[in-house]
Amino acid sequence: MPHPDRWGWADAERLIDNETRVARDMKKSSKSARLNIDGKEFDLPVFSPTCGPDVLDIRSLYGDADVFTYDPGFTATAACNSTITFIDGNDGILLHRGYPIDQLAEKSHFLEVSYLLLYGELPSAEQLEDFEGRVTLHTMLHEQMVNFFRGFRRDAHPMAIMVGVVGAMSAFYHDSTDVTDPWQREVASIRLVAKMPTIAAWAFKYHIGQPFVYPRNDLDYASNFLRMCFSVPAEEYEVNPIFSRAMDRILTLHADHEQNASTSTVRLASSSGANPFACIAAGIACLWGPAHGGANQACLEMLREIGSVDRIPEFIDRAKDKDDPFRLMGFGHRVYKSFDPRARVMKQSADEVLGLLGIEDNPTLQVAMELEKLALEDPYFKDRRLYPNVDFYSGIILDALGFPTSMFTPIFALARTVGWISQWKEMIADPQMKIGRPRQLYVGHGMRDYVDVESR
Ligand code: CMC
Repeated sequence: MPHPDRWGWADAERLIDNETRVARDMKKSSKSARLNIDGKEFDLPVFSPTCGPDVLDIRSLYGDADVFTYDPGFTATAACNSTITFIDGNDGILLHRGYPIDQLAEKSHFLEVSYLLLYGELPSAEQLEDFEGRVTLHTMLHEQMVNFFRGFRRDAHPMAIMVGVVGAMSAFYHDSTDVTDPWQREVASIRLVAKMPTIAAWAFKYHIGQPFVYPRNDLDYASNFLRMCFSVPAEEYEVNPIFSRAMDRILTLHADHEQNASTSTVRLASSSGANPFACIAAGIACLWGPAHGGANQACLEMLREIGSVDRIPEFIDRAKDKDDPFRLMGFGHRVYKSFDPRARVMKQSADEVLGLLGIEDNPTLQVAMELEKLALEDPYFKDRRLYPNVDFYSGIILDALGFPTSMFTPIFALARTVGWISQWKEMIADPQMKIGRPRQLYVGHGMRDYVDVESR
C-alpha cells in the first residue's frame, strides 16, 4: 500500500523497498573445515566474503557438539553479515558500499555519503536533492525539548546531555518508534540525521551558558552546525567555507567504521526490538568511553601538556621508554597497520585550516606539526609502523575551529549517527536477525546450598 506522501518524500517508496532488497549474498566457500573434539569430527561450513578472510559458520556447533566458542571482545567473531563497510587494516583500506574513503572524502560530502550508507548506492542528482531536502526540513527539535535540555546541570558534559536527549526523542516522536514498520524506520532515520547537529550544538550551548541557536535551512549541513555552535544573538557567525569543508570532512571520515563497539552496541540494543532513539542513545553512551570516541580529546590534552616545541624530544623519549606507560596519543592503530586511510585526508584538511589561521601564535598547533615530523623520522615509530591516526588530526582541526575538547566526542557521535542507523536498518531487514545473546565460559562456583546469615 502506498504511504501518504504527507512529508513530500518523492523518493520514499523506492527507498523503503530498497531496504529489503539490498543483496545479502552469503557465498559458501569451496574450502571445508573440520573440528575434532575427543576423536569425534564435526564439519563446519565456510563462507567466502566479498573481501577479507573466510568465515567459519559455527551456528550449529552447540547443538551438534555441545560446546561453545570463547572469544572475549569478539576479536575473531563475525556477529552479523553486512553490506555497508569493509576494512582491511593491513593494507589501510576502508570502503563504504565498495567506494574507498579517500575518494569519498575528496569528491563527495557528508550528506551524499549518508545517502550511500543508508540506501546502498550513490544518489542521482534528483535523489540527492530530495534527500537533502528531507534532512533540511527536519533540523528543528520539538520545542518542548528545550525544557528537557534545561533540566541538566549547567556543568553537564555535552555527551551526558546527548545520551539523555536522544533517548528522550522516543517520548517526543511516537510516530516513528514502531520498528516493524519500514515507513516509521525511514522517518526515524531522517529525523536522527537531521536533528543530531541541533542536539549536539544545543548540548554545547547549554554547557557553556549561551542561548540556543535555531537551525537555518539555507545553510549546508556542516555550515549550519558550525553556526548553531558559534553564533550568538549579539553577533552572527559568518561561516568560512574552508572551515565548513573541514567540518564536513570530519563528519564524512567518521560516518561509519564497520562493527566497532558503539555500532555493535546499537545492533545488540535493537536486536530486542527497542525503538531507534533508545538504540542510538545506547550507541552514544558506548562511544563516550576513552578507548573509543575519546582518543582525539586525549591527543589534544597531550599536545597541551607538551606545551612547547623544545619539550617534544623529552616526550618522544618517554613514549619509547618501556618502563614509562606514556604513549604518543594519536599514533598507532589496532586495525590499521600500514596507515590510517582517514588520516591522510584529515591531514590535508588540517593543513588547509592551519594555513588559513596561521600557527605562529598557537603553541599547541606548533607542537603538533613538529611532533608529527619528528615521530615520522624516528626509527622506533617507523619500525613499529606507528603513523598518526585520524584522531591526531581531527583534534587539531576541531581545536583550530574553536571547539573545546569536551565537544570532540559529541561531534564524533553526530558523524557516526548515520552509520549506526544504516547498520540498524540493515539488521532489522535481515531475515537472519535474532536477538543478540552471547554465551559465556562460566568459572564461578558450582551449585551450593544457601547458608543462613548467622552461620556465615
Ligand atoms: N606510542 C608509543 N609506542 C606505541 C604507541 C604509541 N602511540 N602505539 C603502539 N606503540 C608500541 C607499543 O609499545 C609496542 O611496542 P613493542 O613492540 O616494543 O612492545 C608496539 O608499538 C605495538 O603496540 P601494541 O600496543 O601491540 O599495538 P596495538 O595495535 O595493540 O595498539 C593502539 C593500538 C591504538 C591502542 C596504540 O597504538 C595506542 O595506544 N595509540 C595511542 C592511542 C590512540 O591514538 N588511539 C586512537 C586510535 S584511532 C581510534 C579509532 O579508529 O576510532
